[in-house]
Amino acid sequence: MDNPYVPVPMRVKMARFESDDRSLKTIDLEPVEGEIFDFMPGQFCEISILGKGEAPFGIASVPWEGILRFTINRAGVVTTAIHQLEEGDVVGVRGPLGNWYPVDLFEGKNIVIVSGGFAFTTLRSLIKYLLKNRERFGKITLVYGARRPDLLLYRDELDEWKKSGEMDMYITIDKPVEGWEGYVGFVPQVLEQASPSPENAYLVMCGPPAMIKFTLPVIEKLGFKPETVFTSLERRMKCGIGKCGRCNIGKYYVCKDGPVFSLDQLNKLPKEY
Ligand SMILES: Cc1cc2nc3c(=O)[nH]c(=O)nc-3n(C[C@H](O)[C@H](O)[C@H](O)COP(=O)(O)OP(=O)(O)OC[C@H]3O[C@@H](n4cnc5c(N)ncnc54)[C@H](O)[C@@H]3O)c2cc1C
Ligand code: FES
Repeated sequence: MDNPYVPVPMRVKMARFESDDRSLKTIDLEPVEGEIFDFMPGQFCEISILGKGEAPFGIASVPWEGILRFTINRAGVVTTAIHQLEEGDVVGVRGPLGNWYPVDLFEGKNIVIVSGGFAFTTLRSLIKYLLKNRERFGKITLVYGARRPDLLLYRDELDEWKKSGEMDMYITIDKPVEGWEGYVGFVPQVLEQASPSPENAYLVMCGPPAMIKFTLPVIEKLGFKPETVFTSLERRMKCGIGKCGRCNIGKYYVCKDGPVFSLDQLNKLPKEY
């Protein structure tokens, strides 16, 4: 990134709705010129749409896929404009921004990934990274839930990962649905059922506030120490590079010092996140 305020033009290579209600859309972007920049799992980009504005989104892909993948929940002005994009349209992208999941720290450890709903985006990136470098990591456990089957992201890949046997997977939906063969129940309950050991392990959690609220006591009960638990925060942002002061919590700028923080770091901050 030469001038961090200047977006790079990227073209929509693929656009598809993820959920039956069309509230979630996945887009793959490729640079109009040159190659994709390098990035790490957990980083995000600012996507801008001319005349609408700019907003931050976590990167769901990995660099060797040659694209930037985002899955976007329709919330307001920018996200609605992104939902209207079609293949061939051009958007502006600033990135990669922020820090990433501490994959070097994870080396040789067991990894537990806990997620709910569309917050799974950057965890797809993390899982792709862990599986590509499978020999560097111990056991991988995934607990992922959504209200309904169609709100689970990247379902084809979930099936592939399940078949590969490379992870212990607990995929759950809130209520029983005809034809569903996975787990039924909320993420915290299923995590308790899975009962992953905290020994030699790190846990990464991303999800809606309600999931996080009810999952934290389970994580504590399982015996994970706050310094072994990581999460990614969402804040309203403007510059995305630690200059405007829009996104700070206590001493941290979420855009620059985060979005990935350990629970230990967050426990020492004012409870405004
Ligand atoms: C690091 C980071 C990664 C993110 N990754 C994703 C992602 O992968 N997919 C995704 O769908 N969304 C993601 N978000 C949230 C996304 O940035 C907001 O939904 C988006 O900014 C809303 O823009 P808008 O113009 O459509 O909404 P607006 O018209 O600005 O607002 C509509 C509603 O969304 C709320 N809102 C606006 N910005 C945020 C925000 N940053 N966080 C929470 N609520 C907000 C507003 O309070 C309002 O209720 C991420 C946010 C951050 C900070
Ligand atoms: S968005 Fe400007 S400091 Fe974080």
